[in-house]
Amino acid sequence: MLKAVLFDLDGVITDTAKFHFLAWRDLGAELGIIVDEAFNEELKGVSRMDSLERILAYGGLADKYSLAEKEAFCTKKNDHYLELIKEMTPADILPGILPLLEELREAGLKTIITSASKNAPGILALLQVKDYFDGIVDPASVAAGKPAPDIFLAGAELAGVQPAECIGVEDAASGVDAIKAANITAIAIGDAAVLGHADRVLTDTSDLALAVLRDTWELAV
Ligand code: G6P
Ligand code: MG
Repeated sequence: MLKAVLFDLDGVITDTAKFHFLAWRDLGAELGIIVDEAFNEELKGVSRMDSLERILAYGGLADKYSLAEKEAFCTKKNDHYLELIKEMTPADILPGILPLLEELREAGLKTIITSASKNAPGILALLQVKDYFDGIVDPASVAAGKPAPDIFLAGAELAGVQPAECIGVEDAASGVDAIKAANITAIAIGDAAVLGHADRVLTDTSDLALAVLRDTWELAV
């Protein structure tokens, strides 16, 4: 039986990708690296420090900075990001998510946030949806980030169920890889050309509903 839904945050619950992009673009500009929207796609689901490492490598500066300097860059990017998202409100919840969360609560399914973002608790508070979730996996508590399965395995554990009793919802290719590596059924939101390895791809969050999750899970197991 399907018992728990493991949710990515950025791009699934709310669209923060544009804010991550603006903050990385400005930091990149300071370092002389052009971060465009196409490259930004590759940073979805990737942790803050790993994103910086990818940007530095992209700009040919992989070995230029010390760990302390890189940590300072990450702090600067995050301060800018926090400034950009501080006006977020419940109006920024993506379509279909609130009705889905209501349905899941009614049906007694567990709901867990499995995001690489250290800002997840703050964002859920701004969106006023914290109470809909039974738990948030701390991304700092898992050994390896997406595409490794760790965060989704930790999500199943936090829900108190087996991975086979879960479904994961993601918008990033690395996130779908992580769900599948955990032997969990995957629903992806976005472009089927990029996310075709999911068990089902929906173009929009408004297509999400408990019946769709159950149907996908039953066909996959
Ligand atoms: C999500 C986003 C990434 C972001 C990562 C870490 O996975 O898709 O773009 O880099 O979270 O977010 P944080 O808020 O901790 O910097
Ligand atoms: Mg995402």
